[in-house]
Amino acid sequence: MTKRLPILGVMTTGGDCPGLNAALAALGKMAPSFGYEILAIRGGAAGLLAVPPDVFPLMPDTLPDTVIGQGGSILGSINADTPKPETEEAALALQDAMNRAVHQLGLAGVIVIGGDGSFRIAHAWHQHSGIPIIGIPKTIDGDVGGTHYTLGFDSATAENVRGLSLLRATADSHHRIMLVEVMGRAHGHLALSSGLAAMVDGILIPECHPDMDMFCAQLDTKQHQKSLIVVVAEGLQSLPGLPGGRLMETLADHLQTRLNRPARTMVMGYLQRGAPPTAFERQRAIQMAHAALSLAKAGAKQAVVTVDQHGNMGHMNLNTIITAPVSVNPDHLILAQAMGIALGRTR
Ligand code: F6P
Repeated sequence: MTKRLPILGVMTTGGDCPGLNAALAALGKMAPSFGYEILAIRGGAAGLLAVPPDVFPLMPDTLPDTVIGQGGSILGSINADTPKPETEEAALALQDAMNRAVHQLGLAGVIVIGGDGSFRIAHAWHQHSGIPIIGIPKTIDGDVGGTHYTLGFDSATAENVRGLSLLRATADSHHRIMLVEVMGRAHGHLALSSGLAAMVDGILIPECHPDMDMFCAQLDTKQHQKSLIVVVAEGLQSLPGLPGGRLMETLADHLQTRLNRPARTMVMGYLQRGAPPTAFERQRAIQMAHAALSLAKAGAKQAVVTVDQHGNMGHMNLNTIITAPVSVNPDHLILAQAMGIALGRTR
């Protein structure tokens, strides 16, 4: 009888993003050469808790080759709107049920492709169960501390740049100010990276603590242009001097009055998440999948793949990554300023 290889489970959790399928395809292709079988778990933790668990073997030829270029997650995912256990006992009972499923499936460990929220949950689960967990960081927001790259970021940036370039044509025709909200639940990484690459006129992100007088004065120097495009990070909750409530609308009113031009707003929204992965993203997905398998092979018990500013793969413990500070790319801030992009920056 041939001896079975040790099995690793893999799940995608949290908001989906471009590159998840590329990482899954890469894990399926590379696992045998690392001496592993992969069991893909559908729907995140829900797939483990299903009776029987909702899983399928991920072999080198399981997925069509075209999957590497598809956005979303073929496994499905669960996000913040999924009900959470309300008490500690309920959370522990859930973890116990997941442990039973892991043992029933004979998993030697689980690869979690997730963001900071998923890693917090994974860390608690690991502490409770001792089940080895390897994380691959993903989120279009790009805001997992401890890593310079999260899967999805490049493709979402590319999608925004595509959209912002289309907007320039119509905004120019009407000499308008165009305010564009870009995703990023709490941080401005994606807004900054997208705005810089699209060479917009202003970028408003929470990390800059923008001053509106300064921001308007900076935009005023660009009044000779046909249009003014301003990217606003979703995570920017309020601006000093502006009434609270619907920030995009109040900002549009304010800029319209101050700059004496019509303003329009739009939200890039979920297009950023559904975008196809760029070539760079696919390569990152393959590298991160390779790094995750290497960590498993090396016997890591709780580790997350990280990428440094030079693109080199590394790793960090789960408990370190969930507390690591998050900051936008300082080079991007310097470059945006050097490009004359209004930031309203006071510090
Ligand atoms: O974290 C990724 C993200 O797309 C954020 O940018 C956004 O605020 C959030 O997820 C939206 O989540 P949901 O899919 O729950 O609406």
